[in-house]
Amino acid sequence: MPLETIEIPREVQDAKMRFGIIGNAPTLVEAVKRAIKVSPIDLSVLITGESGSGKEFFPKIIHAYSSRKHQKYIAVNCGAIPEGTIDSELFGHVQGAFTGATSARKGYFEEADGGTIFLDEVGELPLPTQARLLRVLESGEFLKVGSSTVSKTNVRIVAATNVNMEKAVAEGKFREDLYYRLSTVQITIPPLRNRGKDISLLARKFARDFQDKNRTAPISFDDAATRAIEAYRWPGNVRQIKNIVDQIALFHAGETITEATLAKYLPHLPSYVPTVAKETSHSYESEREMLFGMLVRMQQEITSLREQIGNMSASDSTAISKKSWHNPTGFDEYINFDNDADENQGREIIDTIATPTTLEASERETIRLSLERNNGNRKNAAKELKISERTLYRKIREYNLD
Ligand SMILES: Nc1ncnc2c1ncn2[C@@H]1O[C@H](COP(=O)(O)OP(=O)(O)OP(=O)(O)O)[C@@H](O)[C@H]1O
Ligand SMILES: [Mg+2]
Repeated sequence: MPLETIEIPREVQDAKMRFGIIGNAPTLVEAVKRAIKVSPIDLSVLITGESGSGKEFFPKIIHAYSSRKHQKYIAVNCGAIPEGTIDSELFGHVQGAFTGATSARKGYFEEADGGTIFLDEVGELPLPTQARLLRVLESGEFLKVGSSTVSKTNVRIVAATNVNMEKAVAEGKFREDLYYRLSTVQITIPPLRNRGKDISLLARKFARDFQDKNRTAPISFDDAATRAIEAYRWPGNVRQIKNIVDQIALFHAGETITEATLAKYLPHLPSYVPTVAKETSHSYESEREMLFGMLVRMQQEITSLREQIGNMSASDSTAISKKSWHNPTGFDEYINFDNDADENQGREIIDTIATPTTLEASERETIRLSLERNNGNRKNAAKELKISERTLYRKIREYNLD
């Protein structure tokens, strides 16, 4: 059935309006319908879907349409909490439970008693925390860190993940019993590339939002650009299209956007593919693709900088002498020493040019620079890098960038 003629139930329309969800693709409508249906029944729900596909609307719908709607709704990003403190954050601790526990602390499960907890990036939970979570799910019981007294809570759990949970189970990273318990009801959010006309609908909506907010002249997309938008793979899903449209609305205010203009903003990503693209339930790949695009651009900038520095040293060979060595970060660093007999004598004055020698080293450097540019603000850095905050946290840990 063509997307335009699909019948959308009244309650789905209402939920879409209330939460600002754009799109009429049958798979998206089905997801909203399932969330509304399951909301009054106290089952745990697992929301799956690629990064940026819009998972975060769904636990809110489930809470808002349930009898718990007047109680607390707490969203926890499991990937953003360090392993050492996650048990205490979720379940609380008693005074003296560990060094620094000077007073008792309530955990989210106690705070949310009677309400709903949204466990985002649930695939990131460490195994000992998974055991505690299973117990809460089965009996409502938990132990605060450092306590042997059983506490009770009545919490509805909605979890979300963009990792392939079956693979995580097969690899021993996620408990199978917990996975089945969490996914009593599963809601799958479709990737943007499979949503047909919704894609250009979202592009127009984000352009309008940008114009209204920033009072810029409106843009429009010509037919070829619209087709290109709808055929594009959008590995970063809705988050990515919003980001691209914001840029276009800013730099091309008042213009009719053509395919050629669009191509400037999607340069290093794989080119257009048929809409029914190969499904991938694992988003690291798409994030890696985006990071790779950024790295290519960064590499080009470095090459051009090196050329400029090369020209400088050729024209003023006494001012700069170069020394290089390989360091453990995987970068060949070129540190220039100022040989002038002024107050800077002997001081290292330029340490800017680093040539990444491996993809990992480049990725590490891209992330480091982005964190630096955003004054350590991880949310903004993740946005800039077009990856989820969880992925950024994981990479910060992986590369020791804390
Ligand atoms: N159908 C939609 N209509 C309007 N905005 C949307 C839609 N889907 C997603 N968005 C917006 O796209 C952005 C990304 O969505 P969201 O944060 O829910 O992604 P996610 O699936 O949780 O991704 P991740 O796994 O990376 O956390 C948000 O700003 C959200 O409001
Ligand atoms: Mg999310």
